[in-house]
Amino acid sequence: MDQQQQAHVLLFPFPALGHIKPLLSLAELLCHAGLHVTFLNTDHNHRCLTHLQRLSTHFSTLRFESIPDGLPIDHPRNVQLIGDLMFSVKSVTKPKFRDLLADLSTKSERPVTCVIADGIMSFAIDIAKELGIQAMTFWAFSPCCLWSFLCLPELIEEGQLPVRDDMDRMVKGVSGMESLLRRQDLPNICRRQLDDPIFQFYVEEIKAITQTSVLILNSFDHLEALTLSYITPFFSRIYTIGPLTALLTSRITHDVLQSLSSFNNLWEADRSCMTWLDSQPLRSVVYVSFGSTGIMTRGQLFEFWHGLVNSGMPFLWVVRRDGIGHIAGVEGEHAIPEELHEGTKERGFLVDWAPQEEVLAHQAVGGFLTHSGWNSTLEGIVAGVPMLCWPTIADQQINSRWVSEVWRIGLDMKDTCDRSTIEMMIRAMMKERREEIIMSMDRIAKLAYDSANQGGSSYHNLDKLIKDIIKKI
Ligand code: UDX
Repeated sequence: MDQQQQAHVLLFPFPALGHIKPLLSLAELLCHAGLHVTFLNTDHNHRCLTHLQRLSTHFSTLRFESIPDGLPIDHPRNVQLIGDLMFSVKSVTKPKFRDLLADLSTKSERPVTCVIADGIMSFAIDIAKELGIQAMTFWAFSPCCLWSFLCLPELIEEGQLPVRDDMDRMVKGVSGMESLLRRQDLPNICRRQLDDPIFQFYVEEIKAITQTSVLILNSFDHLEALTLSYITPFFSRIYTIGPLTALLTSRITHDVLQSLSSFNNLWEADRSCMTWLDSQPLRSVVYVSFGSTGIMTRGQLFEFWHGLVNSGMPFLWVVRRDGIGHIAGVEGEHAIPEELHEGTKERGFLVDWAPQEEVLAHQAVGGFLTHSGWNSTLEGIVAGVPMLCWPTIADQQINSRWVSEVWRIGLDMKDTCDRSTIEMMIRAMMKERREEIIMSMDRIAKLAYDSANQGGSSYHNLDKLIKDIIKKI
């Protein structure tokens, strides 16, 4: 057996779609290069991945395993209770992971030779190292978020956290971001008290990842040159291999990809929206999605609804009703209020879950109202669609600042949710400010495309990552 065939990589994402999807893309790219891959999910998410069989058919060296997340079967696992998941994974999943990895590296015919674990699951890296297995960290959030996290000790020491008021004030102490970062732009955990368990969780995880030394980022060099220059000294090696979704297209034939983008998902997409999009004028539709974990109140839902309808633009809106990315207080059979149906009949279309990448690539889509999750941001860039950002949690606050002020490919509407602002911002994205945004977006989208294609930095870095994984056997 040559070294390539011997290489067996175990990938282990944090159990949420925004983390699973990019790591599953990486798993497919590694399999495509001939490596053996075990993709480890929690039992709950393993049950949701309905296309496992089809993925294993496309990639004969891809295997799936699962272990418990420690939560009861009926736990909603939504963003409001994300702490339960974080702490349960750390206490219950950790020993299960140790047992599984020990088995896979001793009893298996093809021992695991490398572990790639999520950036907020440092225990997996520690265990891999204890067992003498090469270990790497995959950071699923944005690099600008990582840089602000790496500055947390200074921000705490200088008394700048938590940020609760005076949200327009500039943040000092995050190099390269002094004239850019307002208090409101810091990642959402910075609004928590310093002794809050979730804040502490991140502080500890960030401390731990700087000790893992090898980091994989779903981003590309030209997008984040300055941020990368600040992050680099913290790690012995960094591989920027994003946008992973573009790398999938460039490395694996287009026909396969069309099915792949829908397979790398936890929920079945409602494809009827594609037919609806076919009937809409060129670049006229606002696609609205707040990701897999987004939560909004009933009041916010109505503000968005009025804003969208009043903007006069056709819109395709992902409104989840399954209790995960759900709308608080809008559940059950009558989850979507009747007047919302009425108001959208003319030019709206609602789905539970959309084939997002295909939607963004559709010629009828002209704007993306997004929560600025990192995957959605990259997918918007790849498709070249201007964004209107309404961030809520995690890295989204800082991502939206970068979208509007660094890359200038969209507008930021954070911490505002009234119908007239929404209407005005949609119009600005689709009309008044469209030309300037499109100019920047075309440039950035081309950089993304170039990075992911032959001769580009991410294309090259993936080869390097694969070589380094094999070399260590
Ligand atoms: C989470 C965090 O919220 C986010 O801030 C972080 O950057 C990654 O982890 P999530 O909220 O799910 O992720 O957002 P995002 O990163 O944008 O990922 C959502 C994924 O779901 C995207 O890949 C998108 O294509 C997919 N999606 C979304 C669908 O396939 N269909 C939909 O209808 C909506």
